[in-house]
Amino acid sequence: MQTTDGYETIYKEFIRETNLCADLDTLEALRLKYFGKKGVFNDLAEELKNAEPENKRDIGQKINTLKAQITSLFASKQTEISENVYKTRIDNCPVFDEELLINKNPLGSYHPITLVQRTCEEIFRGMGFTIEDYSEITDDFNCFEALNIPPFHPARDMQDTYYLSNGQVLKTHTSAAQNTIMKKYGAPLRAVFPGRCFRNEAIDACHENTFFQMEGIMIDKDISVSNLIYFMKTMLSEVFGHEVKVRLRPGFFPFVEPGFELDINCQICGGKGCPSCKNSGWLELCPCGMIHPKVLEYGGIDIEEYSGFAFGLGLTRLAMMKYGVKDIRTFNGGNIKALSQFTNK
Ligand code: PHE
Repeated sequence: MQTTDGYETIYKEFIRETNLCADLDTLEALRLKYFGKKGVFNDLAEELKNAEPENKRDIGQKINTLKAQITSLFASKQTEISENVYKTRIDNCPVFDEELLINKNPLGSYHPITLVQRTCEEIFRGMGFTIEDYSEITDDFNCFEALNIPPFHPARDMQDTYYLSNGQVLKTHTSAAQNTIMKKYGAPLRAVFPGRCFRNEAIDACHENTFFQMEGIMIDKDISVSNLIYFMKTMLSEVFGHEVKVRLRPGFFPFVEPGFELDINCQICGGKGCPSCKNSGWLELCPCGMIHPKVLEYGGIDIEEYSGFAFGLGLTRLAMMKYGVKDIRTFNGGNIKALSQFTNK
């Protein structure tokens, strides 16, 4: 049987052993040493069993006190070790590198044509136009026939077309979407449809085989050339951020009648005459005209009731003018230094 000192010795030994525990595994081994099947408390229980009946109460109480002390110390040690484990984990965690916050990988920028396109879209949206999408591969009917350019008509030579081996074509102009959009919505109709166009051009500073246009059509009752002039003037003044002058010259396109070339006063010299406008004071920007009745009919529009105008704004040309880009090859060149300097401001 243990003396009072004996219980105290057990407790002191437990304290000593606990202090040596640095992790939960060793602590668990210690727990088993005391509370396990063959542990210290098992021995004490044996002693209690074999004790004289008159001593049992006293021994029992002492064992219980010891058990409570050890249990409580064990619990606090367990908490301490667990907290240390977390603390060590946090301390050893890779330190947050504030430098990473500094923008080492600069954000991308919008392509200047995208910027001009979005500006135009916003302006037309504000005037009640919807923005339409159209594929880059189309067919002979949509690209030519529905636009009053029958097979073998010499007007086809105006556009150096890429034909695909299956007979389809890469759209040479955004006008190729006119028929589809007329059929989709019927009249009255206001829509713009930007898109990439392709022509077999010899490339130089002013010519590209891949360029962007934005087509617009407005079909309603009593639409006239003055509506066309109004919308074009408003739109271009907003794009350039100041009032621009426009003028119309006759121009031939089989799908408009009458057809025009719309010029704006040169944005570089203001109209006085400079090398950019070949001293004329005007720059050609946007072919347009009143939609030919045949084209309306192909689109299922009642020509007794409705008329409309169409324009084919050269987005690439517009971006060159707005940002003063002298070489058209800049746009498709993929030179990030050149392309990342444009903003909408
Ligand atoms: N689609 C014509 C072109 O690319 C431009 C145009 C559009 C002309 C609409 C008149 C009306 O050459």
